[in-house]
Amino acid sequence: MSQSASAMDYITSRLSSGNGPALAFGGDYNPEQWPEETWDEDVRLMREAGVNLVSVGIFSWSLLEPSEGTYEFGWLDRILDLLHSNGIKVDLANATASPPPWFSHKYPESLPVTADGVRHSYGSRQAFAASSQEYRRAAAALTVRIVKRYKNHPAVIMWHIHNEYGCHNQPDYSEGAAAGFRIWLQARYGTLEKLNSAWGTAFWSQRYSSWEEIIPPRTSGTWTNPTQQLDFARYSSDELLECYKAEAAIIREHSDHPVTTNFMGFTMGLHQPVDYWRWARYMDVVSNDHYLIADDPRNFQELAMTADLTRSWAQGSPWLLMEHSTSAVNWQPRNIPKAPGELVRNALQHVARGADGALYFQWRASKAGAEKFHSGMLPHAGTDTKIWREVVQLGHTLQKISEIAGSTVTGATNTVDVAILHDTDARWASELDSHPSIDISNIQETRRWHDAFYRAGVTTDFRQSTDNLSGYKLVIAPVQYLLSDTGIANIHEYVHSGGHLVVTYFSGIVDENDHIRLGPYPGAFSELLGVKMEEFFPLPARETIQLSDFGNGSLWNELGCPTTAEVLAKVLSGPTAGSPAVTRNKVGKGRSYYLATSLEQHGMTKLLSVLCDDASVDPITANLPAGVEVVRRQREDTTWTFFLNHGEEPTRLPATGHELLTGTELNGRLDLEPGAVAVVRSTT
Ligand code: GLA
Repeated sequence: MSQSASAMDYITSRLSSGNGPALAFGGDYNPEQWPEETWDEDVRLMREAGVNLVSVGIFSWSLLEPSEGTYEFGWLDRILDLLHSNGIKVDLANATASPPPWFSHKYPESLPVTADGVRHSYGSRQAFAASSQEYRRAAAALTVRIVKRYKNHPAVIMWHIHNEYGCHNQPDYSEGAAAGFRIWLQARYGTLEKLNSAWGTAFWSQRYSSWEEIIPPRTSGTWTNPTQQLDFARYSSDELLECYKAEAAIIREHSDHPVTTNFMGFTMGLHQPVDYWRWARYMDVVSNDHYLIADDPRNFQELAMTADLTRSWAQGSPWLLMEHSTSAVNWQPRNIPKAPGELVRNALQHVARGADGALYFQWRASKAGAEKFHSGMLPHAGTDTKIWREVVQLGHTLQKISEIAGSTVTGATNTVDVAILHDTDARWASELDSHPSIDISNIQETRRWHDAFYRAGVTTDFRQSTDNLSGYKLVIAPVQYLLSDTGIANIHEYVHSGGHLVVTYFSGIVDENDHIRLGPYPGAFSELLGVKMEEFFPLPARETIQLSDFGNGSLWNELGCPTTAEVLAKVLSGPTAGSPAVTRNKVGKGRSYYLATSLEQHGMTKLLSVLCDDASVDPITANLPAGVEVVRRQREDTTWTFFLNHGEEPTRLPATGHELLTGTELNGRLDLEPGAVAVVRSTT
């Protein structure tokens, strides 16, 4: 089955209890952590809450194969039968995420190695190197057993391969990785000459004279070669993808149920271990895990941004929220629980942005182990609790809005009009060392733009620079530091044929080998933007510069001048005074804008209104009060508009149609209490 809306439709129709497709609701279920006497209570409570899908077996390798080649499936047979007899469907794991101690003990070479040469021990989870042939052999053997045994089990409707690939064990700098890296490089470059040229090894006497000399970018005296680091990130993603593909191929040989593995969104603040754009092509259903950063005051906007990215990986099709939390997690510095109402609101935000279901980690909060303080759907304190009441409320809410299953996300018109470019290579390369300023972040600038559109009530997709952009009225390139020749040609074509493009500082600076694009900055876009910038002036920590419009600039500015561009704002203070900060240029049928600094919120709001005017982009609802989110899904001539009030004030918004949660008819206005959500159906 190839990735398409139909794979998610297959899931929602199999979850149906007779009234059309049902949205997925449930979570990771780890019955092996509990005595079997608990299982009857589990399924009884699952039914009470409306749970219809659980992921089983993700971390159960050591129980399913207690010693090499010996399998024990009795407990899994029993729980799957019990779930089936209670009408609960299963997303069955192939259980390869964490090899058992016997495996790591017997095959120590399979363990990953850090950049400093320290071999990981087993004793936590995901203790394997992607390049390990022993791991791959053992994972394949387990996968064959599981798929053959359960392919016809009536509870199973979906396959969950592995878990969060790359979490905890990536990158791996072992000898196995070194060998795999060499093969990958030979396929990419063919000859050592080409590799030496791509890596710029004339610098610092790094020229390689044989393939055997090439190693992963392990800890060295100072910065290792940046292109080597970048290629190693690409290789590491591909090596893990091979693991996924091998396991998926085994499953697909025996079963037609959709296959997925759960992604990790933006992996904010961490190294992104894999290139999800590349991976998404191999998913039948794109699924994602998202956890709120508790002490981020706008964490609901970060949630929205991640949901938009996930939908974009799914090319706009409905996707599945595989994990989130009912309340606190256990892995942040301070694990702040969710406020009353937040559980329901968070889940519905994902649904509003294209998820056809909301699953949690995990069903029953653990009693033992490293995650015993992580919230679950069923808390330690039982059912007379805030969490349980809200879980039940959410289950019923998802039933009330199940008619949205299969619909897609749209903007004010019947398309999404704005795309933010987000190339994995650009992110990886922008995070390399020895750059002009440690304050420059692809992710943070991306977030500033997403946040500005979020506040304006304009839905955004994410796209790669090489994707077809022609359907978008406005495209933003935030800190797209690295761009390929193909991406650049595609972006030029987009503008010439009538698109509106915004390029921010530190974009189009290097090619795919991380070599500077020579000439005036930004090398890829100087002519398209009609500016000639000559020197970067990153700002000292916390300093800002005065601009003639759009408030102050922060983080960065540049010395330079316009060529053909109209200057919308220039720098007023400091060594770059007089240089352009915000420009607009007419190109072919389109326009290009350059932002040579980072704007604060007020300035972004103002710039956004200029851009939206120029590009004729409308919000779903104009003049949104702070903290209010409006998102829309659509199928044919029916739309469902989600209104979510994350703020502390009651608000009144224009809305007409049938409100699904209360069953009321709205004639022009909706009153939304703090923390409340409404879903309004209307027909055009
Ligand atoms: C990830 C993992 C889960 C669990 C949660 C905790 O998403 O996939 O197994 O560890 O984090 O937040």
